Amino acid sequence: MIVAPSLLACDFSNLEKEAREVVDCGAQFLHIDVMDGHFVPNITLGPVIYKNLKGKVDAVFDVHLMISDPKFYAKAFIDAGADYLTFHYEAVEDVKDVINHIKSLGCKVGISIKPNTKVEVLDEYLSLLDLVLVMSVEPGFGGQKFIPSALEKIKYLSDKKKKNNYKYLIEVDGGINDETAKQCVNAGVEVLVAGTYIFASKDRSKTIEGLLNL
Ligand code: DX5
Ligand code: ZN
Repeated sequence: MIVAPSLLACDFSNLEKEAREVVDCGAQFLHIDVMDGHFVPNITLGPVIYKNLKGKVDAVFDVHLMISDPKFYAKAFIDAGADYLTFHYEAVEDVKDVINHIKSLGCKVGISIKPNTKVEVLDEYLSLLDLVLVMSVEPGFGGQKFIPSALEKIKYLSDKKKKNNYKYLIEVDGGINDETAKQCVNAGVEVLVAGTYIFASKDRSKTIEGLLNL
């Protein structure tokens, strides 16, 4: 199991310390939520913020772009240290073009779908992807309630992956806690994003360990 703490829920005035702590507790990925106030009604951070984290913490930088023009900004995020760059299916017109652009910049590429988007829309791209991110809340804010329809999508992606030998990681994001994480793992998820559940917990180490052991 891969655990990806969402830094959205951390104390940004202590970003390095917070990131280091969850990585020291065993988290392999750091999930970085980028919001532009246009694709989603919230604004977070740009590449300048996490550029300086790279090299200081030993983790895979899992960048989740919730922005309207991922192609235009891809290079800036990759230069700042993204290992996986994930954009939203709903944000772009030419999905293949954005996939190819990110790949041409030497980065792993992911696509994310919102709760109301059918997973089948991704069929024609699955062979090209390094990661598929299933949103289990409406993107934009942490601390929301898990939407169970994500489970069928995870199962669908897991079956497709096995059948066709695809390489993408299956990731889920939004409302993850011990209960919902278990359901996602049973459905075939491989990467658990958790913000509030990890950063607001009293014992972060124990919380991360619990997820890692699912
Ligand atoms: C929401 C973000 C999530 C968010 C998850 O748009 O993509 O990564 O931080 O937060 P929790 O785990 O609190 O639902
Ligand atoms: Zn996210």
